[in-house]
Order: sequence, then C-alpha cells, then structure tokens
Amino acid sequence: MAIQIPRGTQDILPGEVEKWQLIEETAKEICRKYQYQEIRTPIFEQTELFLRGVGDTTDIVQKEMYTFEDRGGRSLTLRPEGTAAVVRSFAENKMYGGANQPVKLYYLGPMFRYERPQAGRYRQFVQFGIEALGSMDPAIDAEVISLAMELYKALGLKKLRLVINSLGDSESRTAHRNALINHFQPRIDEFCGDCQNRLEKNPLRILDCKKDHNHELMKTAPSILEYLNEDSRLYFEKVKQYLSAMEIDYVVDSTLVRGLDYYNHTAFEIMSEAEGFGAITTLCGGGRYNGLVREMGGPDTPGIGFALSVERLISAMDAEGVDLQSEKKIDCFIVALGEEARDHSVILLQNLRHAGFSAERDYLERKIKAQFKAAERLGANFAIIIGEDELKSGVAAVKNLETGEQKELTLNNFVKEFSMLSQ
Ligand code: HAM
Repeated sequence: MAIQIPRGTQDILPGEVEKWQLIEETAKEICRKYQYQEIRTPIFEQTELFLRGVGDTTDIVQKEMYTFEDRGGRSLTLRPEGTAAVVRSFAENKMYGGANQPVKLYYLGPMFRYERPQAGRYRQFVQFGIEALGSMDPAIDAEVISLAMELYKALGLKKLRLVINSLGDSESRTAHRNALINHFQPRIDEFCGDCQNRLEKNPLRILDCKKDHNHELMKTAPSILEYLNEDSRLYFEKVKQYLSAMEIDYVVDSTLVRGLDYYNHTAFEIMSEAEGFGAITTLCGGGRYNGLVREMGGPDTPGIGFALSVERLISAMDAEGVDLQSEKKIDCFIVALGEEARDHSVILLQNLRHAGFSAERDYLERKIKAQFKAAERLGANFAIIIGEDELKSGVAAVKNLETGEQKELTLNNFVKEFSMLSQ
C-alpha cells in the first residue's frame, strides 16, 4: 500500500503555495515597518522548557506534546508554540543587555500539537508570531495588537472581532484565584477529572475547559475584572485608550483566559466572523507574560506577543472570498526544433535567466504545436522559436503571444535585443 501523509498534516502544493508566500512576505514587510526582527529557534527543545514555560496544567503540556527520548536519553519535545523558546533564547543570549530595548522579535515556522485534527486544527501548523521584551508601556500592548490587525487587513480580511481582557498582576490574580476556588469547590465533583485536578493547581484553567464549558457555575464564575487592583485596572484602561485612539475596535470579554499559563495583564484573541469559517473561530491569540523571562533564568523582564497560524488565516481568506493571487506569467518560452536548436537553447535559456528573465523551454522533445501549448499554459509573454533555418541565418523568431506579432532578433545579440523588445 502506498504510504500516506501523517494525520493532521498537509502538503502545500504549487498553486496553493503562492498564497503562503504572499502571506509570509506581507508579514515580513509589516514587521520591517514596525521594527520587529526575525529570530529562528530550534524545532525541538528540552521538554522541561515547555513544562515550565507553557505550564504543566495546560492541555498543551498534558495532552498535546510530541515528546521523545533521543539516543542520549534526553527528553526532547517538538515545539508546540514559539514564546517559550524565544524567551529562553532571549535569556540565554543575554539579549536584555543590549542597547536596543525593548527587543522586538518575530518568528515564522512549524509548531506541533497532538490534537484531534479537524478544520482549522492540525498536528503540524505554521505560526507567525511576535514578541516584544523589555517594556511595560501599555503602548506596546496596543502596538502588538495593531500589528496583528494590520496583517489581517493587508490580506483583505474584514470580518474580524478583537476580544481583549486583563488577567491582572500577581496580586490581582491571587485574589481572583481564591474567589474561583471558593466558587467551584463546593460542587467540584460535578466537573471532569481535569478540572478537579486544576482546582488547587490552577483554577483559572477550569474556565477554559472544553468538556464542562456549559456547566451553570461557569456562567456565574467570578470575573477577573472585579479583582483587578488599581495598578492593573489603570494599565488595562491605558491599553483600551490607545486602541481607541488607533481606531481599532474591540470588545472586552472577562471570560477570555487563554490556554497557556504564562499570561498576566493584557490577553487578547482575534476571531473571524466570516460565515462558513467553521467551528473554530480564533485566528490569533496573545498577551502579556511578565514573569516568563525570570522563570527561564533571566532577569525580571516584561514581555508581550501573539501568534497566529497561517492555516487559519488562509481559511478565513477563503471564507471571505479574498483572492489575492497575482497572475502567474513568465517572460518567455523557447520553442526549439531539432537537436541542434535544442542544444543552442541550453545556452540561450541560461543567458536569458542570468539577465533576469523568467524563461522556460521544452524538455520532452515535443512537437511544435505542443511546445506552443506548454508556453501558453505557463502564461509566457513571448515564444522564441529556433529551428535549423534560424540557426543557419543567425536569427530567431520572437512571437508576442498576446498580440501575435512576430519579430526576428539576431542570435548573437539576442538577450540585448530581447530586453528592448520586451520592455
Ligand atoms: P495559542 O493560542 O496556543 O497561543 O496559539 C496561537 C494561534 O495558533 C491560534 O490562535 C491559532 O491561530 C494557531 N493554532 C494553535 N493551535 C493550532 C492548530 N492545532 N492548528 C492550527 N492552528 C493552530 C500561542 O501559541 C502563544 N505562544 C501566543 C503568544 C505569543 N502569546 C504571547 N506571545
């Protein structure tokens, strides 16, 4: 039996890959404007990084990691997300010591989660993410959110919903945590085993439970916003004020807690409201993680970022009917007839390509008609025709495939004359 692609992964074939390239280029261009620099970290890390970074009560760590032992007996994990590794690298490479602060980084690459595959949920998916480390200015929170919104808008998405919340600082979180324990404890036996474990360890996670989300206690659970202390409240107010000033619409949802443990203060998600987008509507998620650098062994440094997957972005573009694919065309196709002409076309093709033209030829010894068909399929602007007669007279016929107009160009000055003709 033929070997098939692993479950939850996909091949990105020519025809589809152009969309990916466009998204990647747009993301990089926006990062250049906003002054985020690329960072590349390994695909696998020590498992410990994610236990400490993402948090051992999260679904990601408990159920979704691709963890294996290498031949040296070390426990390694394919990265399920980018933030923990970026923060590790920031601390390990002492990026906090440089003159350029805050340190603003972006990444683009595959992540791995052992999830149940469905539309918009893969086991290997590509995240584009940014992290800004070293600033506790609410303006950087607004900047991070605006960068995500700008990318979606640049790619033609309109039906977006930005949801924000504040998880507060550690004092606010402790107060909220106690309130959550008091709220759930009396009836915790009505909840799933995961939630029962989470009650003492991390009751905030209960609010994120996929199994028990309809339980009546979920709706009446104490809201974090009621437990924000003055500093946290003022910080959140400033973020909202900046978003409004930037004319970025948002809604506040106090039940937004995010699925990773490192968050505090600002948390946000961007959803697609496009009809037919599917059950999973979250396009992008992020937030502030002020304790994470210290957790990774670096000095106390605030941080904020987001990540989105290219897969969900493309689904949203499809659901909104956005088609940004540029027309595919090549400059010329060499139609060569006979062995001598085919030999000559090897050098001519190379010269054309070196001069910057996108050029192609026939490699299947096709008949003339079929070669013209191939040129058409590639959307060639010109066909360059060489046969025995042309070689003898030292000229090649060049046909404009759009107008049908034909000209003769000298073979030993071909590239120069073709450059002029095709201008
Ligand atoms: P996350 O919410 O786990 O956050 O993932 C961010 C985004 O990755 C999601 O909104 C979704 O677009 C995409 N995503 C997650 N899982 C899958 C999947 N199985 N298939 C397809 N797409 C998926 C993080 O990863 C944080 N590191 C974000 C962050 C950066 N927070 C601060 N900085």
